[in-house]
Amino acid sequence: MNVRFGILGTGVVGKTIAARLASLGHDVVIGTRDPEETMSRTEPDPYGNPPFGAWQEEHPEVRLGTFGEAAAHGEIVVNATAGGVSLQALELAGETDLNGKVLIDISNPLDFSRGMPPTLLVSNTDSLGEQIQRRFPEAKVVKTLHTMNAYLMVDPAQLAGAEHTVFVSGDDAEAKATVTELLRSFGWTDIIDLGDITTARGTEMLLPVWLRLFGALQEPIFNFKVVR
Ligand SMILES: NC(=O)c1ccc[n+]([C@@H]2O[C@H](COP(=O)([O-])OP(=O)(O)OC[C@H]3O[C@@H](n4cnc5c(N)ncnc54)[C@H](OP(=O)(O)O)[C@@H]3O)[C@@H](O)[C@H]2O)c1
Repeated sequence: MNVRFGILGTGVVGKTIAARLASLGHDVVIGTRDPEETMSRTEPDPYGNPPFGAWQEEHPEVRLGTFGEAAAHGEIVVNATAGGVSLQALELAGETDLNGKVLIDISNPLDFSRGMPPTLLVSNTDSLGEQIQRRFPEAKVVKTLHTMNAYLMVDPAQLAGAEHTVFVSGDDAEAKATVTELLRSFGWTDIIDLGDITTARGTEMLLPVWLRLFGALQEPIFNFKVVR
């Protein structure tokens, strides 16, 4: 299956997902606020990754556009923007180009304004996944992949011998089936469908645990495994 994907976000998640999808033969446009500004960056990003232009040179098959161009291109759209501004980024993408589409949401509602570790901007009785679904009711939001490091998202086999878990939340059964098929193409085997989009409250609240594990292990390549 060759699908047109629009990836919103030029951080490590957007780039990693875009490269993996392209390597699987999909047709990918990655979106940013201002393509010219993004291409003109010469400094490494805040996490020390090379500037976008250096990555683009290695991945000429992935085209760069605005958020709107990426959303318009995608039959499936991926939200890989900073959680605190995801709703703004999706507004820039444009509701019309999200309507009727599967919208894979990988964002986490992290608030870094009070230092490390970040806190959650929304929790308990609501989630960012739900906020996105409410704001874009015609999009089919599927929350997944946000509970692990970006490199593990697209290559779970890195953790050899450990069948570990990815969660899926969303209201639309067909959209979740599409996303599950995509996850299988990345190599995932233990995929747990938690239910409707309100179940994203649970997985988004795993982030404080993930961050403490990262602090303790000093290593980002680990994951949750549900033994049953
Ligand atoms: N890093 C990981 O391993 C990881 C793992 C799990 C989940 N996540 C989640 O995945 C998402 C992406 O993470 P990331 O580390 O790849 O990148 P990030 O630094 O969290 O986000 C980068 C993206 O956010 C956009 N952005 C920033 N400010 C904006 C604003 N005011 N309006 C609109 N867009 C704005 C940027 O746009 P420009 O392109 O225009 O700069 C860029 O595309 C986050 O929600 C994060 O919590 C990350």
